[in-house]
Amino acid sequence: MAHRVFVTRELPGEGFASLLTDAAVEVDVWPQDGPPPRAALLERVRGVDGLVCLITDRVDADVLDAAGPQLRVVSAMAVGVDNIDVAECASRGIAVGNTPGVLTETTADIAWALILAAGRRIVEAAEYVKGGEWRTWSPTQLAGVDVHGATLGVVGFGAIGQAVARRAQGFGMRVLYWNRTARSDEAGELGAERRSFDDLLAESDFVSVNVALTDETRGLIDASALSRMKSSAILVNTARGPIVDEAALVEALREGRIAAAGLDVTAVEPLPMESPLLTMRNVVVLPHIGSASLSTRCKMADMAVANLRAGLAGGPLPNAVMV
Ligand code: NAP
Ligand code: GLV
Repeated sequence: MAHRVFVTRELPGEGFASLLTDAAVEVDVWPQDGPPPRAALLERVRGVDGLVCLITDRVDADVLDAAGPQLRVVSAMAVGVDNIDVAECASRGIAVGNTPGVLTETTADIAWALILAAGRRIVEAAEYVKGGEWRTWSPTQLAGVDVHGATLGVVGFGAIGQAVARRAQGFGMRVLYWNRTARSDEAGELGAERRSFDDLLAESDFVSVNVALTDETRGLIDASALSRMKSSAILVNTARGPIVDEAALVEALREGRIAAAGLDVTAVEPLPMESPLLTMRNVVVLPHIGSASLSTRCKMADMAVANLRAGLAGGPLPNAVMV
């Protein structure tokens, strides 16, 4: 009998194309651009052996209950799995897969796009030109801060944090990192110095957030953390929105307690149009495009399909998430 699978969105890549033509797998694909509404997700998972999901799908005990006891594998097309109750999956013997590594460099590129955009006011300057405001050259017009030679603080020295730090070498930056576990070898290679959380915040000109979202890191960058940063500092978040207390961030930006922010992720996604962040010239918000090069997205989808297939076969996943 064919394995039944629900995929919460059409995916790019060859792995997905081959899945669709595989007689051994009966694939149901959510046909719309947006995520399946909760009721549709609960309905479509009924009786499946495998689920391929995106960061936009919350996979909790209710989804697992709706699927039924035959569910073997939940395969995420993402490295971050904060949307999945991994412990609940483990307690039911359901394997969880993710897609680390292939998106590391692409996501670090976006962190750097935000460092440069926020530091050198790139978006504001482009809007200035398009808005017909460019009438002359003047000494302090759209002057930002230097990125080269500045101090970069990396919060979370995992794969992406290290890739962000590696790029800083080309800009002659001093790199500091905070990580719950020491990463002495990697740090040594990158010339990065370990700091306590508070010292990193106090010393950095740019703070790049690269930790996973967990119960421990939710709200890590709160009012108290923001108050330790330099008033000239720039916060960049390409990890997950809820790691930053967004109300506290708005407050800190309004009061000039930090200088600017570059965000690829926000507490609520999509960011509501009424968010004060959208009215601030010193804030650049991107729609969670960290891994969004076509090549990387194809590799992620291929990995997600490989994890799915391994899970359906009852074997170990090429990339399994452990509790
Ligand atoms: P990774 O290599 O697994 O690194 C995870 C980092 O989070 C490590 O520094 C790890 O510290 C830290 N961490 C995990 N649990 C923690 C906890 N409870 N307390 C403190 N620190 C903790 O993952 P990655 O590939 O670099 O990705 C990092 C995150 O970036 C992902 O989880 C995801 O949310 C986000 N991301 C966003 C995009 C985007 O499109 N914007 C794309 C890819 C990833 P240890 O070294 O001590 O384990
Ligand atoms: C994207 O945000 C990911 O976690 O892969």
